[in-house]
Amino acid sequence: QSADVSETLAKGRILPVVVLDDARAAAPLAAALTAGGLRSVEVTFRTDAAADAIRAMSEDPQLFVGAGTVLTPGQVDEAVAAGARFIVCPGFSPRVVAHCQQVGVPVFPGAATATEIQMAIDAGLDTVKFFPAEQLGGVAMIKALAAPFRSVRFIPTGGVNTGNLRDYLALPAVLAVGGTWMVAPSLLAEGRWDEVTTLTAAAVNAARE
Ligand code: 3PG
Repeated sequence: QSADVSETLAKGRILPVVVLDDARAAAPLAAALTAGGLRSVEVTFRTDAAADAIRAMSEDPQLFVGAGTVLTPGQVDEAVAAGARFIVCPGFSPRVVAHCQQVGVPVFPGAATATEIQMAIDAGLDTVKFFPAEQLGGVAMIKALAAPFRSVRFIPTGGVNTGNLRDYLALPAVLAVGGTWMVAPSLLAEGRWDEVTTLTAAAVNAARE
């Protein structure tokens, strides 16, 4: 992972995980997130609109846009061509990680076990997405994993929200937290941008406390 991407994510502390059905929502969503105080976003390849949404959101100079739920080398290429600055995966795929390294885009693979963390270390990585965080044991599990893996940083995602994000961010091993709570599908589908901004601002404030 290139240090500047990690630094950007560490500064923002919160990475919204976006699932967009319609790329036309990308521009107002970018505006809503930046109005709420966030500068980074992960747009997932769970929908066909992902590449177009990344392209549209990348036009906002205030926003640092990455691609999520990247499962294949082809999606890495699509994401990078659309302007993605980093790649996030739900799990550890050696071929996806190798491809990211070949094309020179920072990658944050998912890791849920000590073995998967060692695979990431073997691949030369120092930061993993810890997914699904709450279901895996949350803060206590990260504390336990961080003990042997002293140089590894985590981006816990899954079940994180404004109520519990401080507990995660208090751990030195946690770089940032990710989640969908401020960009719930219903908010995006119905264009409730003010609510996205309100939820985002609340999360940013909680992270600062
Ligand atoms: C992800 O892929 O990162 C998760 O779907 C996010 O989990 P959340 O919806 O519980 O925030």
